[in-house]
Amino acid sequence: RGEGSRRIGRARAVSEPKPASEIDWNAIGFGLTPTSHMFVATCDLGGTWSAGEVVPFGNLSLSPAAAVLNYGQGVFEGMKAFRTKDDELLVFRPDENAARCEEGSLRMSMPPVPRDLFQQAVMKTISANADYVPPVGLGSLYLRPLLIGTGAILGLGPAPSYTFLVYCSPVASYFKGGQLTPIDLTVEETYHRAAPGGSGSTKCIGNYSPVLKVQLEAKRQGFSDVMYLDARENKYIEEVSSCNFFCVKGNTISTPALQGSILPGITRKSICEMAAARGFKVEERNVSIEEVMDADECFCTGTAVVVAPVGSITYKGKKAQFCDGKTGPVTQAMYDELTGIQQGRIPDERGWNV
Ligand code: COI
Repeated sequence: RGEGSRRIGRARAVSEPKPASEIDWNAIGFGLTPTSHMFVATCDLGGTWSAGEVVPFGNLSLSPAAAVLNYGQGVFEGMKAFRTKDDELLVFRPDENAARCEEGSLRMSMPPVPRDLFQQAVMKTISANADYVPPVGLGSLYLRPLLIGTGAILGLGPAPSYTFLVYCSPVASYFKGGQLTPIDLTVEETYHRAAPGGSGSTKCIGNYSPVLKVQLEAKRQGFSDVMYLDARENKYIEEVSSCNFFCVKGNTISTPALQGSILPGITRKSICEMAAARGFKVEERNVSIEEVMDADECFCTGTAVVVAPVGSITYKGKKAQFCDGKTGPVTQAMYDELTGIQQGRIPDERGWNV
């Protein structure tokens, strides 16, 4: 290999796929387990996307002046495919990801990936990596569509060319301890994840590194993750580093409204629909940290996180514990229904799976 493909640090160790037959399905968490193939399409100055193709998984070769490396011009998505007991493969709500990717690309001044190309790319990636979809009940194949400005540019402006790719990895529980192990959150008062008018509602790559400093400190203190408050009043819940937030009080389930600084989660949207259908009053509104500390039950949602029970929240030195630190009944019900649909165990009456 020449200079252009020199790898950095430990990249070599993790970037080489091993055959699916060598994977210990009981040992996967949410780390990268590279698979055999990925999908790649490109778009040049004219704004026309190539048809794209499935290629062996491998490193990219980029100009040091690529817009994504210098100015963070990129968006990503997260999706999951599941194996059913009948050995079918199901992918959850890919149309929603295609639409969100389109919105995000416009916010980041990138040419949108046509929705049918997006969905075809996802299907082809799943097919090419079918062996890597974990056995039923042992996880899912996490798909990571990525749209990045790969063309070189020095002055600040949109890249002259773009790459859309979909890679994937088998995954299981996002948080340590297992899927329904309650997490302990701490409320951040100094740093904010997003601000009004910013890019918080876009799944752009630049939204995620700024949370690491805060998250690492929280983990050092023994917390699972961090809850962010609004940048204006430092009073209302926004979201957790990588997921949306819900709280339950009596028959009401509340979640922060989508006002531009919160990611419009597809799991969040699904939970709102499922909860309303079960007769809960679902409120999307400003949810203050004070009322959350007094909630009956709290949980987080996201593609990676699924539905994660919140065992405790610490705010201004005070710790509120929920459901004696166990998984609450509403959280459990939402988890069971969502994963039941995703894994084909419950009839998919809304037609969410493909
Ligand atoms: C997802 O839930 O799919 C995400 O993209 C969150 C990511 C930070 C792991």
